[in-house]
Amino acid sequence: MRGTLTVGNWKMNGGLADNATRFAALARGFRAVPGRALAVCVPFPYLAQARDALAGSAVGYGAQDVSRHASGAFTGEVSAAMLAEFGVRYAIVGHSERRQYHGERDDEVGAKARGALAAGITPIVCVGETLAERDAGSTGAVVGRQLGAVIEVLGVSVDRIVLAYEPVWAIGTGRTASPEQAQEVHARLRSQLAAAGAKDVPVLYGGSVKAANAAALYAMPDVDGGLVGGASLDANELLAIAGS
Ligand code: PGA
Repeated sequence: MRGTLTVGNWKMNGGLADNATRFAALARGFRAVPGRALAVCVPFPYLAQARDALAGSAVGYGAQDVSRHASGAFTGEVSAAMLAEFGVRYAIVGHSERRQYHGERDDEVGAKARGALAAGITPIVCVGETLAERDAGSTGAVVGRQLGAVIEVLGVSVDRIVLAYEPVWAIGTGRTASPEQAQEVHARLRSQLAAAGAKDVPVLYGGSVKAANAAALYAMPDVDGGLVGGASLDANELLAIAGS
């Protein structure tokens, strides 16, 4: 029994006042039961606020990216060690928006995951195909290549990651993969993980997850939770998705 993990990805949204309301609602509303976990990944400047506002609650928090470098002349970058100082539990790596707008390559995603693990942070590694890739029948090849690059960098430590399948065509579009479509890709990713000795890695689904569709997605045998963008900005919606 792997349980479920729901992770909110606020992306570049938020502000001190709005965050305070959201954090308080999550801390108050999340009913932690064994096998059910919830976290929110917030913009870097709000990590200290998350730490203070979520202290003593069962809600975890994380960052949306991390540098692949340990320190040095990398203006604008934030290292895993810095994140660890703020008690960060998770760091999203390889989100499709980073791949698309910041040219992040598969090997960099692996290096970021390795840096996070070295600092005691769980990387949430995102993989997913574009609509053109799906239409061309290459979904399996694309996500297989993306995960394979991370396995190559991490080796046996891949059993310490969280994996998120996020079809690019379903992100922010309101168009969710059907539970069956998600399951098909998750099963493929699961067998790739199993071959690398990491069959128990949680595999989250992301892409227009909301309270209305979460239960059907979470019911799939290889779907272990969700990575939630837009809907995570509404605390009650996020709580409902997490099952609270
Ligand atoms: P969405 O985003 O839920 O708004 O589709 C998911 C994500 O990008 O992590």
